[in-house]
Amino acid sequence: MERITRWLGREQLAEAAEYLRRGELVAFPTETVYGLGADALSEEAVRGIFAAKGRPADNPLIIHCHSVEQVSQVVQPWPDSVQTLMDVFWPGPLTLILPKRPHVPLVTTGGLKTAAVRIPDHPLALALIRAAGVPLAAPSANRSGRPSPTRAEHVRADLDGRIAAIVDGGATGWGLESTVLDCTTEPFRLLRPGGITMEQLQKVCEVITDPGIFKEPEGVVRSPGMKYKHYAPECRVIVVVGDGTSAAIREMAARDRASQKLVGVLAFTEHHGRYEGLTILDLGSKYVLQEGAARLYHLLREADILGLQTLYVEGMPDKELGMAIMNRLLRASGFQVIAT
Ligand code: TXA
Ligand code: MG
Repeated sequence: MERITRWLGREQLAEAAEYLRRGELVAFPTETVYGLGADALSEEAVRGIFAAKGRPADNPLIIHCHSVEQVSQVVQPWPDSVQTLMDVFWPGPLTLILPKRPHVPLVTTGGLKTAAVRIPDHPLALALIRAAGVPLAAPSANRSGRPSPTRAEHVRADLDGRIAAIVDGGATGWGLESTVLDCTTEPFRLLRPGGITMEQLQKVCEVITDPGIFKEPEGVVRSPGMKYKHYAPECRVIVVVGDGTSAAIREMAARDRASQKLVGVLAFTEHHGRYEGLTILDLGSKYVLQEGAARLYHLLREADILGLQTLYVEGMPDKELGMAIMNRLLRASGFQVIAT
């Protein structure tokens, strides 16, 4: 049912917390992307998240806590190796999968006996969780399948009239969702790359990457979220990699334009000169991938606002933050990659 969605500033957190205590849904900023929060321990409230997003019921949610103490109330006691990860990376963009406690509803965990937990590194998120007095289940605050929201306006575009309130905290910092690490198997397994990189994790513990990160899902997947098409704008996204990237993009774009198609290129700042005459969206410096991560989802939404039919994207090596960006690009493109 359509309702009026309240737009709240940082000074109105008490109102936001009140909605959450009543079992309603509130979108709030984190350091990664905006989350759509609800009381993680209330089945009914959590059902509301799935309904508002149009999210498949078997895709589990991340439980956001304000302290390690609160985390210990939702998951079972953990080994020293996990404690080290918490000490080094929390608060921050690292989500840990651990066996859940019995009172955490299966609705929250998509039917799994494990739960995903993290402490976000954002003052508004932490204050809101504390004020609500309950851990908050929060997926990214987009309609299912759409790019995750990095600004309050993106949340409004997707969920206005479907949730109680949006807390506006400006643009988020990282721009990509948290790293998801399964700590229920040895060695730990990277299920989704994010702001905390594989290289950083490997300095602290033994980690392997789940094969699902870079290929099209088939059969049983460990992280149910990996099997759905994700982060995708309406326009067709084609990722191009290799030494011949610019030449290939120029050639394909010229062909498209000859048949009256509206096309754009998502390119690193240093390469803009290679695409003269084409609509260029700026991916930031190739030497500072944080810039590209922070603006990627906004630019995918911009491509739709510009009415582009195809967006060609310059790929990058999948190491460090490039691993998370390429992972999202592969999903946004439906695994359409051209190797040159
Ligand atoms: O940065 C983030 O992680 C953001 C902010 C709001 O915190 N949240 C986010 O949530 O991206 P969501 O729901 O869009 O992605 C959660 C991912 C999904 O891929 C889901 O399948 C996986 O985490 N996940 C959650 N619980 C899991 C579990 N018990 N086992 C395996 N994967 C799990
Ligand atoms: Mg999401």
